[in-house]
Amino acid sequence: LPWPVRRLDEVDSTNDLARRLATGSDGSARPPLVLRADRQTRGRGRGANAWWSDEGSLTFSALLDPTAIGLLDRHTPLCSLAAAVAVVDAISPRVDRGRLAIRWPNDVEIDGRKVAGILPERINGPEGPRLIIGIGLNVRTRLDDASAEVRRMAGSLAEFAGIPLEPDDQEAIFADLIELLRGSLQLLSEDAADLSRRWAELDQLLGRPVRVDLGRKIVAGIGAGIGPDGGLRIDTGSGPQTVYGGRVLRDG
Ligand code: BTN
Repeated sequence: LPWPVRRLDEVDSTNDLARRLATGSDGSARPPLVLRADRQTRGRGRGANAWWSDEGSLTFSALLDPTAIGLLDRHTPLCSLAAAVAVVDAISPRVDRGRLAIRWPNDVEIDGRKVAGILPERINGPEGPRLIIGIGLNVRTRLDDASAEVRRMAGSLAEFAGIPLEPDDQEAIFADLIELLRGSLQLLSEDAADLSRRWAELDQLLGRPVRVDLGRKIVAGIGAGIGPDGGLRIDTGSGPQTVYGGRVLRDG
């Protein structure tokens, strides 16, 4: 693998562990390093969401030094796009490509069900900026005990792949994904426009009705692609708008 991997039986959240290692509050570690957990007790999603996973899930965070891989500040919001493309590439040998899509900012879906989520974070550690890219991929995850909301919107790769996925496949997908993530971040640093084109082919919201809840207001319109700064463009009745945060409402 291109990056060393530290595998843990159990951790609160691989993103939180990466942050502690980067800030020196819990030992320290030199990037690049991948922290992979078999179980997370407090897996986090975006915002205040929790992330459901079990031993059939891949849950890991890559702790990276952005300057060492040619990434500048302006690339930060695009890292999650790069990661989403890597996830699609890692699972596409097992699922028909036409069934795969990315829902801005970085949910990877098969037939409209979310199978992966990405949690990118950038921090300033004592030894410089650090990039943490957390990825949760439901490979053979059992969702029976998850909340009703998770069961309604999520899925796992095993349900959609024509063949049953064995533990070995999970390891193979992990190895592929790490390599693809490295390549995708490299593409971002060398040719961000090419990465954006790849992303656009997978954009689930392009040309479709979309509503984004920004807390104080909801922006509604037709998805018009991703800007060079990673924002979601929306054609609203009163002109184009770009949103950077918020929650994409699932009901369109
Ligand atoms: C989302 O879709 O809201 C993002 C989910 C990110 C989940 C991954 S699992 C590994 C890493 N550690 C965490 O606590 N979260 C990310």
